[in-house]
Amino acid sequence: MPTAEGQRRKLLIDCDPGHDDAVAILVGHRHFDLLAITTTHGNSGLENTTRNALAVLELAGIEGVPVAKGAASPLVGRTYHAQHVHGKSGLDGHDLPEPALQPVPEHAIDVIIETARANQGELVLAVIGPATNIALALRKEPRLAEWVGEVTVMGGSGGWGNMTPAAEFNAFCDPEAFAAVVHAGWPLRMVGVDVTRTVGIDAADIEILRASGKRTAVVIADLLNFYMTRQTERTGLTHAPMHDACALIPLLDPNAMTYRETRVEVELAGTFTRGMTVCDFRGSTIESPNVRVAVTPDRQRLVGVMMDSVISYP
Ligand code: BDR
Ligand code: CA
Repeated sequence: MPTAEGQRRKLLIDCDPGHDDAVAILVGHRHFDLLAITTTHGNSGLENTTRNALAVLELAGIEGVPVAKGAASPLVGRTYHAQHVHGKSGLDGHDLPEPALQPVPEHAIDVIIETARANQGELVLAVIGPATNIALALRKEPRLAEWVGEVTVMGGSGGWGNMTPAAEFNAFCDPEAFAAVVHAGWPLRMVGVDVTRTVGIDAADIEILRASGKRTAVVIADLLNFYMTRQTERTGLTHAPMHDACALIPLLDPNAMTYRETRVEVELAGTFTRGMTVCDFRGSTIESPNVRVAVTPDRQRLVGVMMDSVISYP
């Protein structure tokens, strides 16, 4: 879906594939000018998330999108993974072949800085894993905050968490980095897990992907079936929540989500609340809003774009 001017928006995805990251990559390449992918620790270790990003590109026949490896651990504290949700490889459910594609030699931080510098005011930065790479890039080149056109983050929550009762996984995995993103002073949207958990691909959708007979869609069906089953066992959800693609689609279709200008702070000290995003929906603080927080998704529109995107590949 192009912009009003008929031009695709330029996009860099910083991610930790991850089942929902994989779908976000397919949506991103189909609807944006996807300039680069950078990888981080998160759903699995950095080697796995990088391999998974390359394997998804190869599966879909996507060429010319550089993948750069980033941070293997957070700024502070221990490293967490989500094997319990995404499996040992980070993308269990189908044995994807070892990709022939290789990551570029540059570090993710430098790719983020260079891509933003070369596309000043135009780049959409989608942050759909722990935000370590972004925080390090901001530290190395503070002008990044002026160069990026818009940042869209999947992470945090306007309510409860999924990693702890208070904290969402991406924010919990590197709270200091998440705080750096929230306070960088750039145009920032955040879609939290309280919203994205309700947007998913269900068993009927998975059958549609399979029935398409398309190579990519059939493999994605296997992957999402694994992920959905894990979700059902753990949380009772009957769909595969598509957290990460929810951060991208509203940039193409403004009717896909409503947002509220909100003051957001990230809890860095709490014994039980570390990584919590404290969203001031009631306007209790005198601090100015710093984030557009997603509140109401149009699930049908969002899932429609995801399904069409996946099926559009060979
Ligand atoms: C987030 O955590 C990861 O497991 C998903 O890929 C998503 O980015 C949801 O909390
Ligand atoms: Ca992710």
